[in-house]
Amino acid sequence: MADVDVTTPHQARMWNHWLGGKDCYPIDREVGDKIMEVYPEIADVARQSRAFLVRVVRYMVGQGVRQFLDIGTGLPAADNTHEVAQREAPDSRIVYVDNDPLVVAHARALLKGAAAGTCAYVEADVREPDEIIERASAVLDFSRPVGLMLLGIVGNVADEDDPQGVVRRLVEALPAGSYVAINDGTNVLDVDEWTPAEATARGEALRLCADAGTVPYHARTPEFISSLFEGLELVEPGVVSTPLWRPDPSSVGEPAIIDSFGGVARK
Ligand SMILES: C[S@@+](CC[C@H](N)C(=O)[O-])C[C@H]1O[C@@H](n2cnc3c(N)ncnc32)[C@H](O)[C@@H]1O
Repeated sequence: MADVDVTTPHQARMWNHWLGGKDCYPIDREVGDKIMEVYPEIADVARQSRAFLVRVVRYMVGQGVRQFLDIGTGLPAADNTHEVAQREAPDSRIVYVDNDPLVVAHARALLKGAAAGTCAYVEADVREPDEIIERASAVLDFSRPVGLMLLGIVGNVADEDDPQGVVRRLVEALPAGSYVAINDGTNVLDVDEWTPAEATARGEALRLCADAGTVPYHARTPEFISSLFEGLELVEPGVVSTPLWRPDPSSVGEPAIIDSFGGVARK
């Protein structure tokens, strides 16, 4: 815990705040609230990302996947990847990866209850894909299908750190029959149109984050998110606004379109 910086807002902790959690510090609540004032949709983006996670893990388990690599885990929330997967298939194995020290501390506590050898937590940076694969190999068997989860994480990789290359190197390590799920915040005002970040509420929110010293987040286009699946077989309905990806039939009414896009593909 000595590494936890309580003077600068951290994305994992503000995300927890937007989800209604308590695992954050006054600085995260203060800046998180300012962001919600200019960009109230951020709370939906966070909630819908978690709902997407649940639908995706259930889908992958239904396809026979029993191993998951969840990079950019975030702080524990209502349904974490191992809970969803092991509810459906108790023999599922999960490796979580994040670079936030508070996420590390919570994950250690959370995973104490998990059966030995089925869950692990790796503190690593997504920009080091080879290190992640090497360390995840202690728990996951990379000769059998793996579900790679990249939810709300690629936006943390700046253009100069080659986000497409990072995803490509992770995907290269997966055997055929594996699945890849990606979603990220975008910046489209009317879904069909990319809008420069300076012109939007999201742009203002990203500026507030930068001014407060948070690691910059890059909201990109739906086309960019689609490009991350290159060489893979996208499953229906392709890359769509996150709530539209195989919505639960039990949901009431039409799912709302939000400024966050994602999809799932098979290798
Ligand atoms: C927007 S949150 C998403 C959390 C979760 N995947 C979800 O969808 O609810 C992004 C997470 O990525 C982590 N993160 C940010 N940059 C990272 C990096 N370079 N390497 C590893 N994790 C990173 C943050 O600490 C945070 O927990």
